Amino acid sequence: MREIDFEDDQIIWKILKEHIEEAKELQRMVVSSVDENCRPQARTMILRAVDHKTKCLYFYTDARSPKIGQWQKNQFCQVLAYSSSELLQLRFTAKAVVWQSGELYQSAKSGLKEHQWRDYSSFLAPGSDYDPALKPSSDKLNFALVQIKVEQMEILKLLPKAQEHLRYSFNYEEKNEFARRLVP
Ligand SMILES: Cc1cc2nc3c(=O)[nH]c(=O)nc-3n(C[C@H](O)[C@H](O)[C@H](O)COP(=O)(O)O)c2cc1C
Repeated sequence: MREIDFEDDQIIWKILKEHIEEAKELQRMVVSSVDENCRPQARTMILRAVDHKTKCLYFYTDARSPKIGQWQKNQFCQVLAYSSSELLQLRFTAKAVVWQSGELYQSAKSGLKEHQWRDYSSFLAPGSDYDPALKPSSDKLNFALVQIKVEQMEILKLLPKAQEHLRYSFNYEEKNEFARRLVP
């Protein structure tokens, strides 16, 4: 397991990049939304890209899936991931922005592989009742890029052999109180 300087948030963004490139655990994140009844909704999503400069996480989905409508009505979301190889939990408090046009969207769309086109081209919207009479996919792509703008990142590093675990909070909104060590 690597040694990490937890005062510096950059290392976390570097680890995320590595996990994307090597398809490791932190690429599979639990991403939440809030539905019209103010109920939390959570699902696993694959982290596709990160931008450490703008503190953004990027995910792909079908534009017709319920989470898209939820984020369009209420941007608040939380993203959670745990790596058993790093003994590291990451929790992001954020706002979601849905893209279906623009430069970033076009660039993501042009990189989609064949199986991803299929994933985002089902005849019926994700979550609809299954209809065996319909072909699995249509010609219409319903791809959406989800940009998660991180406001706060919290890390918990488990140190089973040390006296205590390490917990840090990085507040990207509050420049004066950026990094805080917390009681685990
Ligand atoms: C390992 C794994 C990875 C997944 N990755 C994605 C993904 O990148 N994007 C996505 O929309 N759904 C992904 N899903 C499916 C979602 O978890 C969820 O079932 C689906 O998107 C419906 O979500 P919703 O009804 O809350 O909108 C993944 C599921 C698993 C198990």
